[in-house]
Amino acid sequence: MYRTRTCGDLRLADEGLVVTLAGWVQRTRKMGGMTFVDLRDRYGITQLVFNMEQDAALCEQANHLGREYVIQVTGTVRERSSKNANLPTGEIELIVSKLNVLNKALTPPFTIEEDTDGGDDLRMKYRYLDLRRAAVRRNLELRHKMAFEVRRYLDEQRFLEVETPVLVNSTPEGARDFVVPSRMNPGQFYALPQSPQTLKQLLMVSGFDRYFQIVKCFRDEDLRADRQPEFTQIDCEMSFVEQEDILELFEGLIKHLFKTLRGIEMKEPLRRMTWQDAMKYYGSDKPDLRFGMPFVELMDVMKGHGFSVFDNAAYIGGICAKRAANYTRKQLDQLTEFVKRPQIGAKGMVYARVEADGHVKSSVDKFYTQEVLQQMKAAFDAEPGDLILILSGDDAMKTRKQLCELRLEMGNQLGLRDKDQFACLWVIDFPLFEWSEEDQRFYAMHHPFTSPNPEDIPLLDSNTGAVRANAYDMVINGVEVGGGSIRIHDSQLQDKMFKLLGFTEERAQQQFGFLMNAFKYGAPPHGGLAFGLDRLVSIFAGLDSIRDCIAFPKNNSGRDVMLDAPGELEPGQLEELSLKVEVK
Ligand code: AMO
Repeated sequence: MYRTRTCGDLRLADEGLVVTLAGWVQRTRKMGGMTFVDLRDRYGITQLVFNMEQDAALCEQANHLGREYVIQVTGTVRERSSKNANLPTGEIELIVSKLNVLNKALTPPFTIEEDTDGGDDLRMKYRYLDLRRAAVRRNLELRHKMAFEVRRYLDEQRFLEVETPVLVNSTPEGARDFVVPSRMNPGQFYALPQSPQTLKQLLMVSGFDRYFQIVKCFRDEDLRADRQPEFTQIDCEMSFVEQEDILELFEGLIKHLFKTLRGIEMKEPLRRMTWQDAMKYYGSDKPDLRFGMPFVELMDVMKGHGFSVFDNAAYIGGICAKRAANYTRKQLDQLTEFVKRPQIGAKGMVYARVEADGHVKSSVDKFYTQEVLQQMKAAFDAEPGDLILILSGDDAMKTRKQLCELRLEMGNQLGLRDKDQFACLWVIDFPLFEWSEEDQRFYAMHHPFTSPNPEDIPLLDSNTGAVRANAYDMVINGVEVGGGSIRIHDSQLQDKMFKLLGFTEERAQQQFGFLMNAFKYGAPPHGGLAFGLDRLVSIFAGLDSIRDCIAFPKNNSGRDVMLDAPGELEPGQLEELSLKVEVK
C-alpha cells in the first residue's frame, strides 16, 4: 500500500498511530536541528517533522527535498506544540521515521498556494499545476457535487439521462457552429451541437417523457467572463406539461441544490417578473435583485422646464441610492465618466442630493424650481441623505441599458452585491420575436421552436412584435443561469413560425424537415429548459468567471494555451479530408 491515510484526515485522536502518507512537498523549513515539511495531497496538508538528533541521515535527506517532489513517508502521529488553527490537521504532526522519494520535480513556475504568484497566462499554460491549488480544486469538487445532486434530484423525479450525439447538423441557438469535416463524405461537415434542442424534442416524440442530460454544448461566439466556446448544460425536457409544471419542478431543483450544497433553505416560492417589468425597472432581462434601486421614470416631472437635454429626450429615468448623498464631487465626476465610457455610451449624468432638511440640491438647479425637485424626490420616495442619479436619451431601450450599468456600478460601490447572498427569480413573458433594424426582419428571441403565449396567437400576423412567448429564464444575482420554453408541437403552427422568421419552405424543410416530419407522427405537448452548469457552479462558489470551475478552460481568444489548440493539420490529414486550406 502506498499510503494508509491521506494528508487531510489525521486528528488529535490519532495520536500515537503509525501511518504512511504520500503526496507533494509544498514547503520545507529548517529550524535549528529540525526540518519541517508541509506534505500536500487532494485532501489537505500534514506537517512532517524530521529531527537531526534522532536520525541525522534522514534529516539530511529531507533537507534536499525540492518543492513539488512526490514522496512517501512513514511516521508516528504526535500532538503539535504550536498548533495551527487554520489547518484541519493543525493539531498534529508526523514524526517521520522513513522517507521515500517517489519522484523528483522541476521547480514549478509559480507557487502552488492559495494566493499564487502566477499570472493568468502562466497558470493556464501549466493548468495541471494550477489544479493542485486548493482554491481551484474546491471549485471542481463543488462541480462534481452539483452534477451528482442534479442527477439524484432528477432521478427521483423519474427523469432518464439519455445521451445524444455530438456529430450533428447545425442547431439553431443563434451562435455560429463549430464544424468537423467528414472524411467519408468529402466536402461535407458535421456541426457540433449548440445544444441538444431538436434531439430532446425528438425524444419526446419517442415517448421518453422526462429526459435530462448533463451535456457539452459548443458555440462559436465572442467570449466573456460567463461564456466559454464549449460549456456544459443541464438539459431537460418533459412531455404533457405546462409552463407552471416546469417552473415548479425546476424551482425544486434549484432549492435542492442550495440546500445540499450551500445549506441554504429557500422556503418561499421564487419571485417571478415579466420581461416587461424587468426592462422597465432594471433595464435588463436578468436583473440583479440582491439590492433594490429600481428605475423611476421622470418624463412627466422633468420634461418641459427649459433643460434642453431632458426636453428632447425620449426617456428620462433615474435611481435612488440610499444614504449616498455624501458622495463627493470627485466621486460623482467619476460616475459621470463611467457612464460616458464608449461601452456604455451615455452623454452625461444628472445628480441630486437630498439634504438633511429635505431640500433637494441638484446639478441642474438653474432649470428646476425646488417645487419640481420635490416632486422628483417624491417620485423616488427619497429621504434626507439619499442620492438620485438620472440619465436621459433619445432611445428609451438604450438609455435603460445605460441606467442598468449605472445601477450595477452603484450596487458594487455601496457593497450591495455580496457573493454570499443569492437572489433567484424567474423572468417570464419574453417577447417571441426580436426585430433586427439591420436585417429588417424578425428573429426568434429564444429559438424557433418556442410557442407563443396562447392568448397572443391572434396577434401573430397583425402585431408580430407584441407576441409574448411561453418562455422563461432563471436568473441568479444578475446572471442568466437557465432558460427554456413550452414548444410548438403542432406542425402547422411551426410552419407559420418559420414563415414569420423568414425561412423559405425549402430552407425550413432542409434544416428542420426531420423534426417537422416527426411531429406528424404524434408529438405530445412538451417543453423544457437548460441550465448552464458552469454558471451555476461559479455562482455557488462566488467566482468572477466560469473559467475557474472548468478543469481545462479556453482563454478569451478561444485557445487552450496548454494544449496549444486549435492548431494546423498535417498535409496528409488535409488530403484525407479532401480539404485545401487557404487562410484569408
Ligand atoms: P440557452 O441558449 O438559453 O437555451 O442556453 C441555456 C443556458 O446555457 C448557458 N449558456 C452558456 N454557458 C456558458 N457559456 C456559453 N457560451 C453559454 N451559452 C449558454 C446559460 C443559458 O441560460 N436549448 C435551449 C434550452 C431550452 O429551450 O430548453 C438553450 O440552449 O446558462
